Amino acid sequence: KQSVVIAGGGSTYTAGIVMMLIENQEKFPLRQLKFYDNDEERQSIVAKACEVIVKERAPEIDFLATTDPKEAFTDVDFVMAHIRVGGLSMREKDEKIPLKYGVVGQETCGPGGMAYGMRSIPGVVELIDYMETYSPNAWMLNYSNPAEIVAEATRRMRPNAKIINICDMPVAIKKSIAEIVGLENESDIVDRYYGLNHFGWWTEMTDKQGNDLMPKLKEHLVNYGYAAAGGEENPLLEESSWMDTFQKAKDVYAVDPTTVPNTYLKYYLYPDYVVAYADPNYTRANEVMDNREKNVFAECERIAAAQTAEDTTIEAGEHAEFIVQLAGALAYNTYERMLLIVKNEGAIANLDDDAMVEVPCLVSKRGYEPLSMGKIPHFQKGMIEQQVAVEKLVVDAFEEHSYQKLWQAMTLSKTVPSASVAKQILDEMIEANGEWWPKL
Ligand code: G6P
Ligand code: MN
Repeated sequence: KQSVVIAGGGSTYTAGIVMMLIENQEKFPLRQLKFYDNDEERQSIVAKACEVIVKERAPEIDFLATTDPKEAFTDVDFVMAHIRVGGLSMREKDEKIPLKYGVVGQETCGPGGMAYGMRSIPGVVELIDYMETYSPNAWMLNYSNPAEIVAEATRRMRPNAKIINICDMPVAIKKSIAEIVGLENESDIVDRYYGLNHFGWWTEMTDKQGNDLMPKLKEHLVNYGYAAAGGEENPLLEESSWMDTFQKAKDVYAVDPTTVPNTYLKYYLYPDYVVAYADPNYTRANEVMDNREKNVFAECERIAAAQTAEDTTIEAGEHAEFIVQLAGALAYNTYERMLLIVKNEGAIANLDDDAMVEVPCLVSKRGYEPLSMGKIPHFQKGMIEQQVAVEKLVVDAFEEHSYQKLWQAMTLSKTVPSASVAKQILDEMIEANGEWWPKL
């Protein structure tokens, strides 16, 4: 049986992760579940409810919430990390500052992602150090964003750490695809995919019998995007801007119909459209605060007051399913095939070895083994190399406290039209981030 600490105990996703873990007790049995957060007030809202949930549904699991790193990280097999350094209020600034200058305002893409990256790096490195101090044999499954920048930073700064960076986006898209092609389960799809996190392309998809799923999927993409299949979402949340990501997929697909895109590519290929339809005064952070955060916290407080979660609306987060799958593969040697963010080292043949890429990997007790995706075409290679350079420059800027490097990063991003716009955004972001950033 496993012991898990969730770092980011106060996240609006945490209760859904707990539900998911409880539902998976056969596949991935727990002896202990701990929450860790540096925001005690936030964590305690979620923890009080989860304590009730665990007692009611899986009383064999020891539950504990703490802000003490030693207590949190001692005697654990897995650290599931999904921290948001600066919280949703800083996310709001990441989104709104670029929009003022007509640039994509997004959590992980463009200048917002870079700003968030500068805040996240020390937070994630700190978690690695806690883990290595108190449970040196544990694995950290990291889905803290911006995953690409965090992955590049941890590759450089903690090269031997047992950290695996992963994202739910490919799984979420594959769920939509499974519906489109008439398969029950996302895991029935065998895929070939290459790129970066939130920035990649599928080249092949078959079912387990080897039947090609691409023709049917492509026909659907031309007609509807992924939209028709993306409708089932968490009832706790109104998903307007999120759903739009799926709707734009067909235009992204149109640019290269030999592949099937990750929907986030719309931010790089159609930034003008994204900005035109964005509300600079009300962004995704506002939606999340006004909907998911309010609803989840209210529901947690209700559970804590009633001391029962029998009729709760909190559901096992689909968002969390992949993380249980990954942990299970590592613990029980299942050789599951999953898309992970790993050091390239030849997986994409015509790309630098030290780029952090998202490719299919086989996951087992020994860790992960990336599969070779071969050479990629000029279009994708050009886009990927540009984006990798952006991410590397952000990490350079962090390490060297370099204004110049961060300005270069913003200038180079496909989402930003010029060096002067990049500079205006950067200067405002330095102000807004204050102590969250190293002094440039
Ligand atoms: C997807 C991405 C995550 C991101 C999330 C944001 O799941 O893969 O990296 O954090 O969307 O969702 P939200 O509902 O907070 O906008
Ligand atoms: Mn993601």
